Amino acid sequence: MGTQAAPAASEIAAVGVIGAGQMGSGIAQLAAAAGCGVFLLDSDPAALSRAVASISSSLGRLVSKGQLSQAACDDSVKRIKCVSDVQELRGVDLVIEAIVESEDVKKKLFVELDRITKPSAILASNTSSISITRLASATSRPSQVIGMHFFNPPPIMKLVEIIRGADTSEEVFSQVKSFSERIGKTVICSQDYPGFIVNRILMPMINEAFWALYTGVATKEDIDTGMKLGTNHPMGPLQLADFIGLDVCLSVLRVLHNGLGDNKYSPCPLLVQYVDAGRLGKKRGLGVYSYR
Ligand code: CAA
Ligand code: NAD
Repeated sequence: MGTQAAPAASEIAAVGVIGAGQMGSGIAQLAAAAGCGVFLLDSDPAALSRAVASISSSLGRLVSKGQLSQAACDDSVKRIKCVSDVQELRGVDLVIEAIVESEDVKKKLFVELDRITKPSAILASNTSSISITRLASATSRPSQVIGMHFFNPPPIMKLVEIIRGADTSEEVFSQVKSFSERIGKTVICSQDYPGFIVNRILMPMINEAFWALYTGVATKEDIDTGMKLGTNHPMGPLQLADFIGLDVCLSVLRVLHNGLGDNKYSPCPLLVQYVDAGRLGKKRGLGVYSYR
């Protein structure tokens, strides 16, 4: 295997973030705010423009609260370079992949990253559910492939769930843990099973909320208010599903259902129908609720 000593967390100076959607934009912001040079790549140029606007607005909130100086905000924005060619990532120390939640599409990207990036680079995936071991097996450096699972919105949520694949080295694990702490996160560690820790528990709740709506137990508003006021969740499960993206929720449930083989993870037909209809949630202006 073509592995080389991966860089120490303090030596991670250049980070590639692939996918400039909800998650990639927030992850790029965190890495830039920690002083790293960031190459942010997306196959859709419009996603890059939206990401730059969302990063500026997110950092702007911190400036207006007095938590960040205007100069530090400007420096962070300047450290992010939007790119459209994966070749630009050849010199980075760490890649964090945050593209669509599809094993086939992610595997193709990992094959390309393995070919392009320097041998010491760490390849991390922000996947919500997909096997890190299988993504790693698409590369010649499985010891340097790891799950680095952020939560939405990344600048606010304090957690990073780290997933070791079957061959992830201890050295890479501790470097990614230190890097996550350097960008202000608390780390938990999961074995490589479908949905890891948080989504294994969260997604069945979201699915159950869809079943409650589908079978007429209550209105969407009452389901959400019930869970917000009855269990002190910041968002109701249907509102949270819209916030995450219904496509992401459905993909995760399919991974849980296929991987764990239990009908309790079978996606509710209403969730499937919404995704089929392009009602992907807040990011598209329509999901369970309308945001138009
Ligand atoms: N950047 C910077 N600051 C932000 C921000 C962003 N993107 N989004 C929110 N904020 C800040 C606001 O400025 C505000 O700060 P102050 O309290 O200091 O004023 C604070 O966060 C709260 O924001 P809002 O008042 O706008 O809204 P809110 O109180 O409703 O909070 C929320 C928004 C933080 C998203 C909250 O509703 C929440 O925690 N929701 C649940 C989120 C959650 O569960 N995420 C995990 C989903 S699962 C997942 O991510 C994994 C997966 O694989 C699917
Ligand atoms: P999103 O739809 O907001 O963004 C995905 C971006 O990836 C899009 O801009 C798309 O153009 C781009 N993309 C797709 N295929 C690409 C490719 N081959 N090369 C380059 N760019 C490509 O999705 P998201 O919500 O940011 O989720 C991204 C990843 O993060 C998924 O794996 C998801 O499961 C995971 N995740 C999502 C959340 C969440 O709450 N949404 C939380 C944690 C993890």
